[in-house]
Amino acid sequence: MKLLVTGGAGFIGSAFIRLALQSPEDLTLGNIDALTYAGNLENLASVSADPRYTFFKADIADAAAVEAVVASFQPEAIVHFAAESHVDRSIHSPEPVIRTNFNGTFTLLEAARRHKTPRFVHVSTDEVYGSIDEPHEADEHYPLRASSPYSASKAGSDLLALSYFTTYKMNVSVTRASNNYGPYQFPEKLIPLMIANALDGKHLPVYGDGMQIRDWLYVDDHCRAIRAVLDSGRAGEVYNIGGSRALPNIEVVQRILAATGQPESLIQYVTDRPGHDRRYAITSDKIERETGWKPQVEFEAGLSETVGWYRGNAGWIANVRSGAYREFYDKNYGGR
Ligand code: NAD
Ligand code: TYD
Repeated sequence: MKLLVTGGAGFIGSAFIRLALQSPEDLTLGNIDALTYAGNLENLASVSADPRYTFFKADIADAAAVEAVVASFQPEAIVHFAAESHVDRSIHSPEPVIRTNFNGTFTLLEAARRHKTPRFVHVSTDEVYGSIDEPHEADEHYPLRASSPYSASKAGSDLLALSYFTTYKMNVSVTRASNNYGPYQFPEKLIPLMIANALDGKHLPVYGDGMQIRDWLYVDDHCRAIRAVLDSGRAGEVYNIGGSRALPNIEVVQRILAATGQPESLIQYVTDRPGHDRRYAITSDKIERETGWKPQVEFEAGLSETVGWYRGNAGWIANVRSGAYREFYDKNYGGR
């Protein structure tokens, strides 16, 4: 199998690559990544010397660069992770989000069409369904009601990817996962930000009343689900991937404080995020029925593993929290 991954230096893409190369499988794996603030080759240190692995530094929205990689590598499958992935950043600066998430997906689909790439998996999010009232859960036919520039860009790119199945009969599947957590996640998303702040004894900024609900999925469970879809998902189909663990944000934060031995007085309620989705909820019946995949990692075990990882990797946190991170932090949290 000759597999081309995009965004493999990020949180989920790097976990996917590490898992794929852990197996002795006959695999040639290429990774296209532009190394934005979220892309970090340290995440791939354990596999960088593997002869089955090649890194291509390229921007997926640069058609000539993508063409050069796809023409030389000739993948049998593309698994597309690369994205601007953070809602708060998409609120402050939507332009790079639309460029990478929509135009970048278009550029990749076009290269795959020209080179007749046999398989394309587009990695997306449950956020495309928008906020869902109790007691409903979205299946794959639920209407798309994206709230942020991030989720709108993902909804648009999902539809574009599916149109390449309908129009050009390309073998495309789309996955929509719930909120991921685990080692190597950039400390701007809820769980790694709160762990990093708690370990430093800093305030934990909770948006609004903290009663928003997210469904937590351990990153390796997500990667196993993507692999299942790559291997046996059907063309033109969408697969939801949920963690089956819905929790209000404040409970997640309290568990992080307990796991790091810090007091609840570190919690600071701050002004809510504009357009904040109250609740995400999906059903993963389809992927479970069709591929046999199920999440394996309980939230308690996954969170304890994750806190342990951040505790043991202070150098990684310090590196990714250098200058540009400070600017984002001040812009997002200053005066909130
Ligand atoms: P991330 O922000 O950690 O990593 C994104 C990676 O993409 C980085 O390595 C970055 O350098 C790269 N990238 C960004 N713009 C690029 C460009 N123009 N060209 C090439 N590379 C570029 O993101 P993540 O959390 O690993 O998310 C991966 C995918 O999974 C995204 O498509 C995201 O929408 C989706 N997803 C994420 C979650 C989550 O909870 N994190 C949940 C569901 C779906
Ligand atoms: P986030 O990790 O940004 O993921 P998403 O918005 O894509 O679900 O946020 C998860 C939840 O945590 C969301 O309801 C917003 C909330 N949140 C905070 O309360 N404080 C924070 O500092 C961050 C980053 C998120």
